[in-house]
Amino acid sequence: MIAIGCDHGGFDLKQEIMAHLEKRGLEYKDFGTYTKDSCDYPVYGRAVAKAVASGECDRGIIICGTGIGISITANKIPGIRAALCTDCFCAEATRQHNDANILALGGRVVGAGLALKIVDTFLDTPFSGDERHKRRISMIEE
Ligand code: RB5
Repeated sequence: MIAIGCDHGGFDLKQEIMAHLEKRGLEYKDFGTYTKDSCDYPVYGRAVAKAVASGECDRGIIICGTGIGISITANKIPGIRAALCTDCFCAEATRQHNDANILALGGRVVGAGLALKIVDTFLDTPFSGDERHKRRISMIEE
């Protein structure tokens, strides 16, 4: 189960991503926002992060205008490794090296075509499992 959430700056891109997940047959839970009205990104970043940290959802996707505010928020929750990605190289590397559990996107930064490829790369790339990466990830939580 994928947790997904956005503010007004990420609303349109979230609609595209949810349609894409449906086409792929992937289940998701939409934590809002549900309209294009101006709202506060920490509400939605926190809701998705808590769903992933608790194990209710396996991965998360969060979107605001830049992806910055919502990723800063999510990374405050223990156990969350939210990665703001603007290209597929970073999406692949953050799964392999950081075992990132949340993907952050900027709805005003990346177009839908690129964003969907970033989403697929993030969801389809496994963690490498290398000892050095495990060690570094455990150091994040110290
Ligand atoms: C909202 O205008 C905007 O500040 C927000 O979507 C995000 O970019 C914050 O980091």
